[in-house]
Order: sequence, then structure tokens, then C-alpha cells
Amino acid sequence: MEPIGDVGFLGCGRMGRALLEGWLNAGLVERERVMVAARESAQATADALGVRAGTIFEVAARSDIIVLAVKPAQAARMLASLKFELGQLVVSVVAGVSRAALPVSPARLVRTMPNVACRVGQGTTAILATADDYPEDVERITRLFEAVGQVVRVPDEGMFHGVTALSGSGPAYLFAAMEALADGAVAAGVPRDLARTLAVHTFRSATALAAAPGAVPSLLKDEVASPGGTTIRGLQVLESRAFRGALLDAVVAAAERSRELEKP
Ligand SMILES: NC(=O)c1ccc[n+]([C@@H]2O[C@H](COP(=O)([O-])OP(=O)(O)OC[C@H]3O[C@@H](n4cnc5c(N)ncnc54)[C@H](OP(=O)(O)O)[C@@H]3O)[C@@H](O)[C@H]2O)c1
Repeated sequence: MEPIGDVGFLGCGRMGRALLEGWLNAGLVERERVMVAARESAQATADALGVRAGTIFEVAARSDIIVLAVKPAQAARMLASLKFELGQLVVSVVAGVSRAALPVSPARLVRTMPNVACRVGQGTTAILATADDYPEDVERITRLFEAVGQVVRVPDEGMFHGVTALSGSGPAYLFAAMEALADGAVAAGVPRDLARTLAVHTFRSATALAAAPGAVPSLLKDEVASPGGTTIRGLQVLESRAFRGALLDAVVAAAERSRELEKP
């Protein structure tokens, strides 16, 4: 893919840096055409990744594409202090802040919700694409995120709360699950390193099957759980502890938090 011009980061913490590293690895951005602005960590990030550090004003003035990756509480105020030009494109990755609350005129803005796996080219990114969005902007940003993982387009901004709660926050739920599964294997006598490796690879195995066209997770689960076997005994414990209900509630709670963040 062609490099994408001058790219600036307003905020380059965990999410901004995951994107920057993913784009650098994919050869999509040229180091000398990247500038990061952060409050304290900008120079260290720039030194570590071989890009330039600048102020938020320099980033806004010099970038064709500007990634907004600060915390939700800072996003709108920061943008209001900056000047943009026609032709610039701001990409928001900020959770719980609506597009309308982010002033970038006369530049344009595309709202996205990526996740941290963009760092290793395996991200999941939702891109807002409604009748109000310019198709050429959506197309440009889709190409950018496709270089670091899967992209889905979301036709209604109201869905962003649920999307954020699932694919944005979701890696954390699964890391917690991996850790707990590995602990279980350790309790059953498996050495820690081996338990961790098995936990991670088991997720990979399940994902490969569940991602196949037409695959249905509940049917795949039935395939593993043979009558009177070990798996159904494990599932019995999960059911008795409301495992699925807990996951469901976690996503609903995260979506509620996203709605709270949206309120002024
Ligand atoms: N983490 C995730 O998995 C994830 C996933 C999807 C979306 N997001 C979204 O990504 C955004 C950033 O989250 P994060 O987890 O990356 O947070 P983070 O690690 O705390 O990064 C925030 C960045 O903003 C910078 N910053 C804060 N105030 C600033 C200011 N006044 N001027 C310039 N830079 C400033 C910080 O700089 P210093 O480090 O120098 O303070 C840091 O680089 C959030 O809106 C979040 O909703 C995160």
C-alpha cells in the first residue's frame, strides 16, 4: 500500500502507539513523516519509534491525517484549541465521544473504534459510516485500518457504545480469561509457562474455528462436549457460576459507561 502522507498523533499512549507501531510495521507510514504530541511522553515515544515529537499545535499544522488518541475527557477541549484546514482528516479513536462533540472544521473527521491488537496487525476496528460521512473519507480510513487488521463499518453512531464495549474493551476480558485458564491448569499440575502457552493457543484454536464462514459458536461448543466427558463437566461449572451471564453483563456495563462518557 502507498504511504499515506504526513501523519500526526494527538496523544500517543497505549492506543495511539499501537496504531503507529502497526502502521510502521505495515510500511504504511514513513518515520520521517510522523509526528507525535503527548503531554510528557512524546519525546520518549518519538525516540523509541524513530519519529518526530512536537506540540499539539505542530501536529495540527503539519499533518494530512491526524489521529486523535487522548482520553475522552480531553478530546473536545484539545481540538477546540487547535486550528485545522480544509483537506485535513482527523481520525478519532476516542471512546464515548460523539462525532458532533469534536470540533475540527473546516477539516473533516472520521470516528473509529480500534483495539490494541492493531499493534500486531490483528486489530478489530469499527468505522462509523453513515449518510453524513463522506464516502472518500471512510474509504481512506478503511484502507488505513485494514493494514492493521479487520474493519467493520457501522451505519449508526448509537451502535458505537456496544461496539466499544465488545471489540474495543474485549481484549481485556479475554486476557483475564486466559490468565484464569492458565491458573486452572497450574492448579491441575501443569508448569506455569506451559499453562500460559496452552491458554493462548487454545484461544487461537477456538478463534480459527469460530471465524470460519457459517460457523456457530454454540454448535462448535457442542462438538467439543462429548457425553459424560471432561468438557461437559467443566461447562457445568461455568453454567452454575453464570459465566455467560457475567460476560453479557460486562459488555452491557461497558456500553453504559460509554454512554456516561458521552454526557457533558
Ligand atoms: N487502550 C485501548 O485499548 C483503547 C482501545 C480503543 C480506543 N481507545 C481510546 O484511545 C484513547 C486513548 O486511550 P489510551 O488507552 O491510549 O490512553 P493513554 O495510554 O493514557 O494515552 C493518552 C495519551 O494522551 C496524551 N495526552 C493526555 N493529555 C494530553 C495533553 N493535554 N496534551 C497532549 N497529549 C496529552 C498522553 O500523553 P502522556 O503519556 O505524555 O501523558 C498519552 O499519550 C481513549 O480515548 C480511548 O477511549 C483505547
